[in-house]
Amino acid sequence: MYSEKVMDHFKNPRNVGEVKDYHGKGEMGSTRCGDTMVLTIKVGEGEVIEDVKFQTFGCAAAIASSSMMTEMVLGKTIQEALAMTNNHVAEALGGLPAPKMHCSNLAADALHKAIEDYLKRKEAAAS
Ligand code: FES
Repeated sequence: MYSEKVMDHFKNPRNVGEVKDYHGKGEMGSTRCGDTMVLTIKVGEGEVIEDVKFQTFGCAAAIASSSMMTEMVLGKTIQEALAMTNNHVAEALGGLPAPKMHCSNLAADALHKAIEDYLKRKEAAAS
């Protein structure tokens, strides 16, 4: 049912936890199943994401999507990260079974929320 990549990221998730002194935090819950993901990011010079960690309380597909997304987004600018969608994450995992596609939403949506939070904090600090 799951690709080898999904199983690898599920069994050995990358970047688990919370970034110390994070610059942005995004939390996303699935209305379908109640699973949740919390993502924290640190943004460096040139608005590059230099650290990212996640905590996902969810199914194998959600954990694998979260883990893959953190690898994809590391070293990207926030603009590049904002362009990332759940489909990009699912494709990078070698696809997800149709009933599990919604699980990858958690990762992309939490990422976008963390970036929004970072931008709000930046704006507040500048005013
Ligand atoms: S079943 Fe809840 S995120 Fe996958």
